[in-house]
Amino acid sequence: MIGRKLAQKLADTGTLNGQSITEMTLFDVVEPIAPSGFDGLAHLLTGDLANPQTAFELVTGKPDVVFHLAAIVSGEAEQDFEKGYRINMGGTQNLLEAIRLSGFCPRFLFTSSLAVFGTPLPDVIPDTFNATPRSSYGTQKAIGELLVNDYSRKGFIDGISLRLPTIVIRPGSPNKAASSFFSSILREPLKGETAVLPVPKRTRHWFASPRMAVGFLIHAASLDTAELGWRTLNLPGVSASVGEMIRALKRVAGTNSADLITEKPDPLIEAITCSWPKAFHPARAKALGFEAETGFTQIIQAYLEEEGISPTSITGRPS
Ligand SMILES: NC(=O)c1ccc[n+]([C@@H]2O[C@H](COP(=O)([O-])OP(=O)(O)OC[C@H]3O[C@@H](n4cnc5c(N)ncnc54)[C@H](O)[C@@H]3O)[C@@H](O)[C@H]2O)c1
Repeated sequence: MIGRKLAQKLADTGTLNGQSITEMTLFDVVEPIAPSGFDGLAHLLTGDLANPQTAFELVTGKPDVVFHLAAIVSGEAEQDFEKGYRINMGGTQNLLEAIRLSGFCPRFLFTSSLAVFGTPLPDVIPDTFNATPRSSYGTQKAIGELLVNDYSRKGFIDGISLRLPTIVIRPGSPNKAASSFFSSILREPLKGETAVLPVPKRTRHWFASPRMAVGFLIHAASLDTAELGWRTLNLPGVSASVGEMIRALKRVAGTNSADLITEKPDPLIEAITCSWPKAFHPARAKALGFEAETGFTQIIQAYLEEEGISPTSITGRPS
């Protein structure tokens, strides 16, 4: 999802870090969707990053910038231990090794996650807080961060790991992430459809829009890393409770929209989400110029704009 939006944004602007984008290679285990209107050469490749040979073939063109987003998400990595390590850890190392052995040093952006943090957590997490993951996905992302840091230290890549906030509203249909309901409870009512809320409304978490995630990646691609030090960044976002998200939904889509959400407690999902970060003080990223939305209404509006949904067409909105 984020990769597709990033590719389209790069095709739209045609530049990255002040230079024209002449070639773009999009790679996924399912057939990638070509961005529209790209003036350069687009290579669309399908394969499994867990295959070391595939990783080598991917970097033969020695790109200046590598955005590494391929992963299986939290719920699936927890259910399928082997697949999680094969793709999330093995795939990342394969790509880094392919770059190292091909002898070039690209800017390398790795999408890490808040899942690297485990309880007990303070209400607001400072930049210096240790990663102590309590899930396989979080562990795999933490390993990826360490690899990016070490390969950068050795001069094999010029890497940055971005601990993305939870990205909402995810377009399309629900995925296998344990956080999937955060998008469903907004996306479905905005379409006039019902949604299930498996956690209490007091549940609080850290969010940004897909548009912001793309912005973070593009900003990181052009960052001066000379003074960066540790290569992992906590990013800005919006701290919101589910109750505040629903209030923002009502402001945008009318009070009736919240009637489409049914509370159906799921102890497993509640236990997982309770252990997640609630808010951050991302001083380093802010000083480096990373910016996010400042309120949840903005996140919903970003979704409507990106998906071309007119606010007046939303079911439930009072005329
Ligand atoms: N969406 C979020 O809230 C969020 C938050 C934090 C971090 N992230 C990370 O950002 C990245 C992108 O997230 P997204 O929401 O766009 O997820 P996504 O599931 O839409 O994208 C991940 C892509 O990786 C591909 N993939 C999976 N296994 C692969 C393999 N073996 N080889 C090649 N490609 C493979 C999938 O087909 C998919 O298209 C992921 O690394 C994710 O862990 C996402």
